[in-house]
This record gives sequence, C-alpha cells and structure tokens, in this order.
Amino acid sequence: MIATPAEIKHEVKDISLAPQGKQRIEWAGREMPVLGQIRDRFAQEKPLAGIRLIACCHVTTETAHLAIALKAGGADAILIASNPLSTQDDVAASLVADYGIPVFAIKGEDNDTYHRHVEIALDHKPNIIIDDGSDVTATLVQHRQNQLSDIIGTTEETTTGIVRLRAMFNDGVLSFPAINVNDADTKHFFDNRYGTGQSTLDGVIRATNVLLAGKNVVVAGYGWCGKGVAMRARGLGANVIVTEIDPTKAIEAVMDGFRVMPMNEAAPQGDLFVTVTGNKHVIRQEHFQAMKDGAMVCNSGHFDIEIDLKTLGTMAKEVRQVRNFTQEYRLSNGKSVVVLGEGRLINLAAAEGHPSAVMDMSFANQALACEYLVKNKGKLEPGLHSIPVDVDKEIARLKLQAMGIFIDSLTPEQIEYTNSWTAGT
Ligand code: ADE
Repeated sequence: MIATPAEIKHEVKDISLAPQGKQRIEWAGREMPVLGQIRDRFAQEKPLAGIRLIACCHVTTETAHLAIALKAGGADAILIASNPLSTQDDVAASLVADYGIPVFAIKGEDNDTYHRHVEIALDHKPNIIIDDGSDVTATLVQHRQNQLSDIIGTTEETTTGIVRLRAMFNDGVLSFPAINVNDADTKHFFDNRYGTGQSTLDGVIRATNVLLAGKNVVVAGYGWCGKGVAMRARGLGANVIVTEIDPTKAIEAVMDGFRVMPMNEAAPQGDLFVTVTGNKHVIRQEHFQAMKDGAMVCNSGHFDIEIDLKTLGTMAKEVRQVRNFTQEYRLSNGKSVVVLGEGRLINLAAAEGHPSAVMDMSFANQALACEYLVKNKGKLEPGLHSIPVDVDKEIARLKLQAMGIFIDSLTPEQIEYTNSWTAGT
C-alpha cells in the first residue's frame, strides 16, 4: 500500500498536478525498456534493501522511472532537484501521490530553497548519493563530515560533476568511491550527444519559435554535448560556428565541417549562441558589446555560469520579459541581447530535457551503479571508478534487443585471430 501524501515528507508545488504527472511518467516509460527490465529484476531481488539513498537529479518523467526502479530495489530513496529551473512540478507531485516517493523540488525555487533541499536530503543520512553536478557530495564533504562513515559511495551523472569530484580527490577530501556514470559509453555517446543535441534546440525553439534555417549558430565547446548541438543545428539548416580552447577538439570540429574561430570573431556574426563548455564566463562583456542587435544567447552546460549575466545586467538600460523563458536586455549601445532560460540549462528550463530513449541508458547505468556499490561495499578504493565494461555492454545489448536490432558475433576463427599475435602480413 502506498502511503498518502500527508504521510510522506515532501515539498512540491501543487500535489493536485499528480494525475497529469502520472500520465506523462507512463508515456516516458514506453521509451525506457532497459530501465524497465532492471526495475522488474530489482523488484524480485531487492539489491538495495536497507539502503538510504538520495537522488539529486533533474525531476523529470525519466528521473521518475529511475526513482521508481530504486524503490522497487528496496532503497529508502528521496529525490531533490539538481537545478532550480528543471523540475517538472506535475512529475514531482505524482511521485509523492502515486508512487510514495518523498520529493523536495519546485520549478523556479530560489537558491536558498535549493540549498535547503540539499540539507533536507542530507538529513536523510544517505548511504548512497546519486548526484548530477556534485552539489550534494560537495556539501557533504564540506559540512557533514560526521556522516562520512554512513556513505557507501556516490554515483555522478554529468561531466561537470566528474570535474568537481576529481578536484575533491586531488584535494584529498573524497574519502569514498564515486562511480563515474558519465563516462560509460552507453551514457555520454547518447545522452550528451543526441540528448543534448535534440533537447537544446527543442528548448530554443519552444522559448522563441525562431526559424533556425539560415541563422548563424555559435556553439561554444565541442565536447560530446557541443558535438550534438552543432550536428543538430546543422541538420535544421543553420550555419554553425564552433569555438573551442582544446586544439584537438577544434581540429575535430573543422574536419566535421564547421567553421572554428575565437569567440571575439564569432560574437558579431552569431544570431544564436549556445554555451556547452562547463566553464565560466565564456560569453562576457566584450562579446555582448560586439553582438548584433537581437542576438540570442543560451546555455546548455550544467551551471548558469557560462554566460556572464551579472555584467550583462550592468550593461543594460532595461530588461524585459518578452516571452516565457525569454528576456530582452536593452543595452546603452542601442542594441539588445536576448537571454533564454535565464542562462540555465535551456533544454530543461524551456523544454523537457533529453528524450526518454537516451535517459533509459543513462539511468540504467545509475541503477546498476548503485547495485554495484552495494555489492562491493567496503572493497572499492576512495576516488573515481568507471562503470564496469560488462555492465556498459549489457546495457547496450538490452537496448539493441528492445529496439529489435540484432548484430553479428565473432566466429571461432575470428576469436582465434584477435587473440593471436603471430598472424600478420
Ligand atoms: N538531464 C538531461 N535531460 C534529462 C532528463 N530528461 N531527465 C533527467 N535528467 C536529465
């Protein structure tokens, strides 16, 4: 029996949104067969029984399926938002009302509320933390050392979080294992590339309804996310310019057929700018100054630091809301710069995040990473660990199977050949 909302700790916008959330969660499930199989196995085997778990993720229909799978596996799980603007309030309501999962997340919550939710989650005394951006882990390490002995490990979803975990390890403060979900092939090849590619442009289009064909789209950063955004923008007919700081990635962008140049040169040419670098102030004062009148800027990197909005605010005579998630900054040079999604992840602020079909694999990795941590409790060294290759391959195999696609396997002769060094020219 599922407890009533009154019996479950929660902070959601409006519990009466639950029926719509449930309908949308069920719809997403159609595209998440791999996580569905894991959920069913978890329900039988209960590999997470007795585990207290925090999931700090974007509260979406896809995350709902992860939370449901963790609960089916026996975890005492609670969910908080990993970004103040990414919560789907109907999903949060349904998770509480229909699935009995405590959720603390409200779309548009201010930073104080966001951090209060992180503290509430840590009061849950977790054994495992699923993080997206490492905010919970960073808070634990800084302010809750007395809870470190409860921790079996963390799992991290995103590139930015992995960079932070590496920095924690180098500073000697990461005293437990952290599973690097982002670097699983079945995560970043698909989620970062095809997920970010499609959902970022979906966010831009929902926010503005602009035609991208013929526009100059400047993509800052050519990691997996940048590759996806550039590829999909080209697919919609945009002329894509890439900016990079890494020479190898810059060559890759050139050979993928994009123009590559510094941001100073791209600034006066772009109609739309998308930042996906993970770094700070990639678009700043001198760039805003040089932009065309009406240029649009948005971010699809994890944190809202890529566009220097504070400085843009000081350059503006007036800021006005022109559509949902669309603000026009009128500058004293007579031109305006249009900011989408307040510089936060545009794909989750103005659209619904990555489609379920890619999150299926990302969250299959998350669920199996939690099981792996429990099975290997006390055996893993502190620091970052990859998802085991056989787990990664199994997720790919299940996904192919669900798609009805079959592939070849090596013949005995081929296996012998690959194991032999004597056969050559
Ligand atoms: N990150 C990007 N898209 C997402 C989604 N749909 N659900 C959860 N996390 C995400």
